[in-house]
Amino acid sequence: MITSKFALLSLVVWLGTTNALHIPRQEQESSSNNSENSEGDQSPIATPYASPTDNYETHDTATHTYSPYPTDYHSDSDKHTYHPTETQTKKGEYTKGSGHGGECTTTDLGWIPTSGYPTPTPLATTNANAITPTRTGPIGSHTGSAIDFKGDYSDWQLEEFWDDWVGPVQEPPLRDTPCPPQPYPLPEDPPHLFPDYLVSHPEDILTKYKFPKDFLFGWATAAQQWEGAVKDGGKGPTVWDWASRFPGFIVDNTTSDVGDLGYYLYKQDLARLAALGGNVYSFSMFWTRIFPFGSADSPVNHEGLKFYKDLIDYSWSQGIEPVVTLFHWDTPLALQLEYGAFASERIIDDFVNYAETVFRAYNGTVHKWVTFNEPVVFCSQGGYPINSTFPEGLNSTVYPYTCSYHLTLAHAKTVRRFRELNIQGEIAFKSDNFVGVPWRGYDNKEDLYAVERHAAYQIGVFAEPIYVSGDWPEILKNDLPPEILPRFSDEQKELIKGTADFFAIDGYRVGYVTAPPNGFDACIANISDPLWPVCNQVNFYEPTPYAWGFADFADKRVPWLQNTWQFLRQSLSDLLRRYPTDGGIYLSEFGFAEPGENEQPYKYIATTDTKRELYFLSYLGEVLKAIVEDGTPVKGTFGWSLVDKLLRISQSFEWNNGFSVRFGVQYVDFNSPTLERTFKRSAIAMSKFWNSHRNGDGHGKDDKGDDKKKW
Ligand code: NOJ
Repeated sequence: MITSKFALLSLVVWLGTTNALHIPRQEQESSSNNSENSEGDQSPIATPYASPTDNYETHDTATHTYSPYPTDYHSDSDKHTYHPTETQTKKGEYTKGSGHGGECTTTDLGWIPTSGYPTPTPLATTNANAITPTRTGPIGSHTGSAIDFKGDYSDWQLEEFWDDWVGPVQEPPLRDTPCPPQPYPLPEDPPHLFPDYLVSHPEDILTKYKFPKDFLFGWATAAQQWEGAVKDGGKGPTVWDWASRFPGFIVDNTTSDVGDLGYYLYKQDLARLAALGGNVYSFSMFWTRIFPFGSADSPVNHEGLKFYKDLIDYSWSQGIEPVVTLFHWDTPLALQLEYGAFASERIIDDFVNYAETVFRAYNGTVHKWVTFNEPVVFCSQGGYPINSTFPEGLNSTVYPYTCSYHLTLAHAKTVRRFRELNIQGEIAFKSDNFVGVPWRGYDNKEDLYAVERHAAYQIGVFAEPIYVSGDWPEILKNDLPPEILPRFSDEQKELIKGTADFFAIDGYRVGYVTAPPNGFDACIANISDPLWPVCNQVNFYEPTPYAWGFADFADKRVPWLQNTWQFLRQSLSDLLRRYPTDGGIYLSEFGFAEPGENEQPYKYIATTDTKRELYFLSYLGEVLKAIVEDGTPVKGTFGWSLVDKLLRISQSFEWNNGFSVRFGVQYVDFNSPTLERTFKRSAIAMSKFWNSHRNGDGHGKDDKGDDKKKW
């Protein structure tokens, strides 16, 4: 229901157009731990869309001549604008929306500054995403029997479900999808802040090196953090929609009800990404937009499918390849309440059913798929946000491994189904964390073993079975009895092994790893040891008397994050050596939290994100060197994140700090009626780096102009 205030606004807009998997407490606190369906259905791929005319071929042919298949975009590198076709992009001609949100006129939403002499207004100190929480009491598990829909999945039931478990949801300030100007205008270049001899301009770095032609540059987001409009379009509630109603559960009492409103503003976001020279956008789908109740026996929501179709189509129209993640922690609330979600094996078939529906719907229009985002983080947090009680037989020690067991099987069955259905493209999951660097050097045996333990618990727990052996890492099997770590059968091992086509690492940082203070044996034998069971320590400083910090630090609310550019190349090759794949490796997330950014009094200060700029430039430079000098097949980099948003930062739980730390390369004014975006320096710097280093052959030239190492 649109209130009159919002209707008016919309009109204006329209017119204007414990341990790792059990993160050790010590790491949680100091670093927040860095942190088949039945087989053989060979039926032809059918689209679940309601209308036969609503398909890619016939879509908007009047004004759109694009194909969803590879980017026939051309570039105008002087202005670093990238756009798909002449017919679509002549300014002023792009007058019809491509579906979601209906028709619209070209508009910049008032985000593009026109005055050369602006008068800065102070930034608000409050955030419109904050609510007065409506629920009381501790968040319990509510698992197994908290709800039973008895097969009634009607619209009425969905409305009741929202009302009973979530309550009132904030209305989005606008409900149109305005079309951005084409090509989207970029700001004038920001001034140089330091002398050239101190800080190079992006174009002047590594000038003889170029990325390969098909290299992917872009940014990533996730549904719960970016879309907002959490109740619009028939979406069902997620555990986060529910848990954010408990006072203080999110420290600033913000919710993702409105968020960045990507659900309605995706065209603006994609046009701005394209204008910067990006050619890829990685986003996740809300499971509950497609299955509001989550389960395989519940109905699919065609409006949800239509939204993602529009998002995918519009991406391609901007010369941007969409990369889709199926699950970025937004567990359907219904499944959490019915059977405890990842605590139960029932999650496997429900997930495979959701994935299959998505594959069938978008086959051919998405070429890179991700099943699960950062499963170590997800499972280690007790299936958060529900963490205070567990279903019978589980506790905080056991739960992470029960979750990992079910999640690995859900991933494997999904990939097997993907292959049976001959879905086009490649599929994998996203890891986080790092293998690690021995703190006291490579000749220190204890630290080397600590690194092995770190790699096994933080990455190998999923990567070892999926890329290498079909089974858990030996270290985990030696440490954890079957009552804690369920064992895979031989049949399951066969199912799991080989179910990834590339490696994706959310490689924010690489840390120094050292042995536990009391030694490995004492730690491994003591379940109460704060470092158990990983039994290693991550250090943020040098093993020297002054204990210098060895890398630049981020906002103090993100204590796990450092600009560890110096370890990136090694980290990428370490990962591929341990977890080999023919598909190469993607830096699927990397980003930086500029200190104090949320507290700046003026936007021009908040957009001067110098540390983030240096972080991104140093990582991009190291990736380029990894390709050219080391021969590491890095295929793409996805910065985190396209815009400011609800994010990961807290002592113990991802996302619980709400919007109080920003990670975006665009500032979002959450109090603006249009959720105004403003480019930060880091966005422009990345754009300039991409545009001055793209379309090469992946080779480097030495000083004499000869080719360096090839790959
Ligand atoms: C990891 C997660 O995938 C994302 O949701 C989070 O916001 C970022 N990293 C930043 O911590």
